[in-house]
Amino acid sequence: MADIYYTLRNKIKNRKLKIAVIGLGYVGFPLALEFVKNGYNVIGIDNNKKKVDSINKSSSYLEDIDESVFKNAVNSKRLSATDDFSVIKNVDCISICVPTPLGKTKDPDISYVLNAADNVRKFMKKGQIIILESTTYPGTTRELILPKFEKSGLKVGRDFFLVFSPERIDPGNKEFNIKNTPKILGGVTKKCTKIGKYFYSEIIDKVVEVSSPEAAEMVKLLENTFRSVNIALVNEVAIMCDRLSLNVWEVIDSACTKPFGYMKFYPGPGLGGHCIPIDPHYLSWKLKSLNYRARFVELAGEVNSEMPDFVVNKIADSLNKQKKSIKGSKILIFGVTYKKDVSDLRESPALDILTILEKKGAIVQFYDPIISRFMLNKKSYKSKELSKNLLKNIDCVVITTDHSSVDYKFVLDNANIIVDTRGVYKNIKSKKIVRL
Ligand SMILES: NC(=O)c1ccc[n+]([C@@H]2O[C@H](COP(=O)([O-])OP(=O)(O)OC[C@H]3O[C@@H](n4cnc5c(N)ncnc54)[C@H](O)[C@@H]3O)[C@@H](O)[C@H]2O)c1
Repeated sequence: MADIYYTLRNKIKNRKLKIAVIGLGYVGFPLALEFVKNGYNVIGIDNNKKKVDSINKSSSYLEDIDESVFKNAVNSKRLSATDDFSVIKNVDCISICVPTPLGKTKDPDISYVLNAADNVRKFMKKGQIIILESTTYPGTTRELILPKFEKSGLKVGRDFFLVFSPERIDPGNKEFNIKNTPKILGGVTKKCTKIGKYFYSEIIDKVVEVSSPEAAEMVKLLENTFRSVNIALVNEVAIMCDRLSLNVWEVIDSACTKPFGYMKFYPGPGLGGHCIPIDPHYLSWKLKSLNYRARFVELAGEVNSEMPDFVVNKIADSLNKQKKSIKGSKILIFGVTYKKDVSDLRESPALDILTILEKKGAIVQFYDPIISRFMLNKKSYKSKELSKNLLKNIDCVVITTDHSSVDYKFVLDNANIIVDTRGVYKNIKSKKIVRL
């Protein structure tokens, strides 16, 4: 039998490699399309039947997807989806992109990864390369995933290859995409790294090899912890500037003129999304098991999670100045997704602010140009139509997400008071504007 390493290399080179992508969300769906764009045949596996059906009907549920590439991929039968894991028997490469959230106690919940790995093990065969892309703590690939796969009787590095390569996608980013964002990669054995690098080098401009899956797992956690800590720092600077009656946006933009030794981060209503609020907890949890307290991680988490309350205090102060209270006031949450120009509501601080305001008796409505409705605490919310009438009838507008498509001048002209948590009015003087 031909050496499986060279067989895989040939398949990669000749575009004969068949790929399964497990988990067709914000990471897996665009990745699957990128593989197709590069000439490979891909089958997506997801246990959400709705997503599977959508893909097979070439109907996208994500906003960043290139419609024509997607339709072409499905019509040419290069991309299809299923909820049946047995298709793993027929592929050469398996990419795992399932969620890695936190449990109720804020501990890592890697049950999705373990479940996906169990399903892979049932159908895996000799000669496959398996890549874990989900963000997780150092040790997951080698200590938890590898033993499952080796239970099949196959040996890593000899019969199959196992690699950790964290996804770095930034939804909504128009400059950096899968192709031009360098890819970190660490295999369980040297051959695993080599084949992983060979594969990704066909698709991505730059592949950065690290010495182990643990190092690759740690790289991703460093990147997201770096963001969490720096955002916490500027959030605290915002709180300090507030006490000092200084404009934090002016201070930050001026600091940004320094061409070295400073990096731009802006404050906001709190952290959101499936990465920055969550991933640092993976790191601190792992370190706790090694008897070490990750102090920066914990402090950043504390500061960032207090931001929704800080914003609510700003809203209370601005209403107070108009002799109004939160209770009974009409408040418009302007933008509910966790960041601009994406449809992702996960961990969105706008939802925390909405919940706090409702608990205090406010009449809360929302407007979002991307999200028309959502469910929260078993209640259904529907986006208002943006109009003069709406804005004039609202006591306080809270800009929680700064979507690009909005006419902010129109909002300013017609609103009574605006609490701006994103700096959309940072260069405008108006008594209506209350800054973070
Ligand atoms: N969203 C981002 O911006 C981003 C960026 C980089 C890395 N990541 C990481 O990538 C991973 C995936 O994140 P995401 O945002 O794509 O999540 P997601 O929730 O958008 O998508 C995950 C998909 O996996 C499916 N799924 C869950 N368990 C499954 C199982 N056992 N078998 C098959 N399908 C299953 C879900 O139905 C869902 O469609 C996470 O570890 C995340 O931290 C996310």
